Amino acid sequence: MIIHPKTRGFICVTSHPEGCAENVQKQINYIKSKSNIDGAKKVLVIGASTGFGLASRITSAFGSNAATIGVFFEKPPLEGRTASSGWYNTAAFEKQAHKEGLYAKSINGDAFSNEIKEQTAQLIKKDFGKVDLVIYSLASPVRTHPETGIRYKSTLKPIENTYTNKTVDFHTGEIKDISIEPGTEKDIENTIAVMGGEDWQLWIDKLKNEELLADNFKTVAYSYIGPKLTEPVYRKGTIGMAKDHLEATAFKITDILKDINGKAYISVNKALVTQSSSAIPVIPLYISLLYKVMKEKDIHEGCIEQIYRLFKERLFLDKIPTDNEGRIRIDDLEMRDDVQEKVVELWKKATTENLSSIGDLQGYKDDFFHLFGFNFENIDYDKETNEMVNIPGLQ
Ligand code: NAD
Ligand code: NA
Repeated sequence: MIIHPKTRGFICVTSHPEGCAENVQKQINYIKSKSNIDGAKKVLVIGASTGFGLASRITSAFGSNAATIGVFFEKPPLEGRTASSGWYNTAAFEKQAHKEGLYAKSINGDAFSNEIKEQTAQLIKKDFGKVDLVIYSLASPVRTHPETGIRYKSTLKPIENTYTNKTVDFHTGEIKDISIEPGTEKDIENTIAVMGGEDWQLWIDKLKNEELLADNFKTVAYSYIGPKLTEPVYRKGTIGMAKDHLEATAFKITDILKDINGKAYISVNKALVTQSSSAIPVIPLYISLLYKVMKEKDIHEGCIEQIYRLFKERLFLDKIPTDNEGRIRIDDLEMRDDVQEKVVELWKKATTENLSSIGDLQGYKDDFFHLFGFNFENIDYDKETNEMVNIPGLQ
């Protein structure tokens, strides 16, 4: 079929298989252009098909020759309807990994469920024996609890006070004020249930109980802090409460890993355009100003540059640098004073009329469409392409 982008609000409901392959290949090329990482050899990535999780899988495979199992929740293609982008990303990743003789298998289903945990444990037992590294990179608006069957919905709301600030519709470039009503206690609980640490802990408990974790095992979950500007809606909002819970869970997990000399880490990553961050009010405007400033200073990074730096300069060092709260920081460049001061200055000035010049609206849009395999210059989007792509190592 001929595939063009079709957007609905913050998402794009079509994706382009060759464009997704291009997106993956660019990340593989980046890793291959860098020096190798003396990292983990048997890696499980939960949330492996897009964003930071995909970058973690690519970095493991092509940076350390690791065997990887990827878990994700993606839509397969149907005749005349494209798959979701994570499906095509994974197909492209596995194809390249297999070409180089690297083990790569994938499981598509709800990572919050007992069934998918069980299936993954079985695959690790059969093919890996034990796993060295588990990356936990889920981003989801909902979670069905595996024991109670309750379906929780996360929210992106401030707490206590109504928050009013500028936001941009990045499709049109229109900036307007948005007011978000504070979340209730229930909203906080629900968001913690979805994006907090309980599921991460359930995964590691399960793999530990089945003796599937190698000595010196590591697990990493991704978090975000961000600037004062977005604090009410992010770090001090309902999602921030979930991140606090996730971060506290790292210590609880580390406690059960003592006998295998294992450790759980939080890595605080930079704000980037992904399917998840596009849905958060105010953040897209922040990102488009941030991109402008960081590109001008030549310190801009995407997911793959971030994760390469995490693996190369943090996670596999003898002494892993962390902040006062034990967190690995790869948001250091984003949080630099000179960067944040400039963003605040631009934020005050930003209007619909000047955003395309004072901010990197085009960079935001390009990144957004790249997520779905669109806006690549070397791909002819008016040409027929086969939407029925298989993932070779899908279990
Ligand atoms: P993303 O939307 O690109 O990736 C989410 C992944 O989770 C996909 O692989 C998806 O298939 C998978 N997934 C979602 N629900 C699932 C389910 N029920 N079962 C199995 N798989 C499921 O998101 P991302 O932006 O890469 O976020 C990953 C993590 O990084 C999150 O914890 C997020 O908070 C964090 N983070 C993101 C940013 C950012 O700016 N994007 C910054 C710092 C930290
Ligand atoms: Na991810």
